[in-house]
Amino acid sequence: MPFEFIYRTSAQGGLVMEGLVRFSVSVPEQLLEEFDRWLSRSGMHNRSEAVRQVMRSFIAQSQWEEKSGEVFGTVTIVYDHHRNDAVSSLTELQHHFSRVIICTTHVHIDPRRCLEVIVLRGEVEEMRQFITTLSSLKGIEETHPVITSPL
Ligand code: NI
Repeated sequence: MPFEFIYRTSAQGGLVMEGLVRFSVSVPEQLLEEFDRWLSRSGMHNRSEAVRQVMRSFIAQSQWEEKSGEVFGTVTIVYDHHRNDAVSSLTELQHHFSRVIICTTHVHIDPRRCLEVIVLRGEVEEMRQFITTLSSLKGIEETHPVITSPL
């Protein structure tokens, strides 16, 4: 029976109290030293919280690769708005995948380049199709998908 608890937000938006389970892990000393250095650089001082984040991130990444389940995500793109009708094909593509797109933020970087952050929610397979097509559009210079999950 767990004796420690943590609050997390459920997929429905409510707070859920979850029991914590302790387990021990064996790792090479050098790996732990690197992990702790990374912790202090990133401003985190709690190994348990860091391991929880790493586990959630790993599971989210697996869902992405296994193509199942509903996930949240963002994709950040940088594109040249003068090249090859990049703007119109990008707009057309986003309308086609509007079911998984929550919103888009557009920033004009300089006279040539634009940055967009597209926030996504939906079936991972549909997101994968969107991101694959997106990265193949002419004029898109960078595509950075980040997939998270409501775990
Ligand atoms: Ni722009």
